Amino acid sequence: MYSRIAGTGSYLPERVLSNADLEKTLDTNDEWIRTRTGIERRHIAAPGQTTVDLAEQAARRAIEAAGVSPSEIDFIAFGTTTPDLVFPNCGVLLQARLGVRGCPALAIETACTGFIYALSIADKFVRSGEAKCALVVGAETLSRITDYADRSTAILFGDGAGAVILRPSSEAGLLSTHLHADGEYRDLLYSRGGVSRGFVDPETGKPDIAIRMAGNEVFKIAVTKLGAAVDEALAANSLEKSAIDWLIPHQANIRIIQAMARRLDMPMERVILTIQEHGNTSAASVPMALDVGVRDGRIKRGDTLLLEAFGGGFTWGSALVRY
Ligand code: COA
Repeated sequence: MYSRIAGTGSYLPERVLSNADLEKTLDTNDEWIRTRTGIERRHIAAPGQTTVDLAEQAARRAIEAAGVSPSEIDFIAFGTTTPDLVFPNCGVLLQARLGVRGCPALAIETACTGFIYALSIADKFVRSGEAKCALVVGAETLSRITDYADRSTAILFGDGAGAVILRPSSEAGLLSTHLHADGEYRDLLYSRGGVSRGFVDPETGKPDIAIRMAGNEVFKIAVTKLGAAVDEALAANSLEKSAIDWLIPHQANIRIIQAMARRLDMPMERVILTIQEHGNTSAASVPMALDVGVRDGRIKRGDTLLLEAFGGGFTWGSALVRY
């Protein structure tokens, strides 16, 4: 028994923050941002628009594409680092929006790897027969924890949501997932505020929940860990690099994505690239890129996809998928 992606959906909030907009308030420029990151614009949630608001739109599109009704959903896994509330978790909030009742609904907080973790967990429930119609979401409002006075991070992050429906199938679907984490790297990429630690910086006495990142070090470790994850996924499935039809990477930096494509001997034409449109949307980036590739017709049934992500923690992982 496999789990198989039956439908995909995504949603971007309307407001666009372009590189030109950032030039007006920060000591930065469009050329620097484009060449160092690949980002041209990002989408920002409207005031009051929450992570679950974005997720609901993406989930409804995935549900429609899968041809199921919300009442069939019997498992919800929701990857996010920017939840609406401390509790109930975003999975439960989304469940209520969709009018689903009684099934397990959980949120997974593994930063940019949130969707890959959620997918891996849902896959196990579907393959074991415990779930027959799983909704898997990655959604974020990173703009809420971005310091727009810090040019090293303000240029990177955006808001969005992506979702898939997983159903059981006797035909190959998800071939493997591999998950990793290493808390030794916790100080290289993190948000300073938290419920238990408090939202006020003890040193300055000011509220502070913003993302902090040692970008250059993160970059180097991301390339190494993702490279190993790509090799691990291929080896576990006894597949050659040439077997991968599409790379669907976490969209954090175009140079990291290019390094992964080189490692797979893939031309960039075989990579679903969305970073220019929405920057780094953390857990939302992989399912949004997947949905873009499916809806524009590049990704076809039977194609072999390699999904990978890396984020704060560090956490990282891959999913090898027969679409
Ligand atoms: N505009 C213009 N200059 C900037 C800038 C900006 N927005 N941000 C930083 N700079 C400057 C720095 O101050 C530095 O100047 P200096 O040489 O005078 O000291 C110079 O550009 C180079 O900085 P550096 O941090 O070494 O740049 P970089 O090439 O590493 O690019 C990132 C910075 C953040 C784009 C890059 O490190 C990155 O993408 N890292 C990984 C991020 C990531 O993947 N994070 C999420 C994982 S989920």
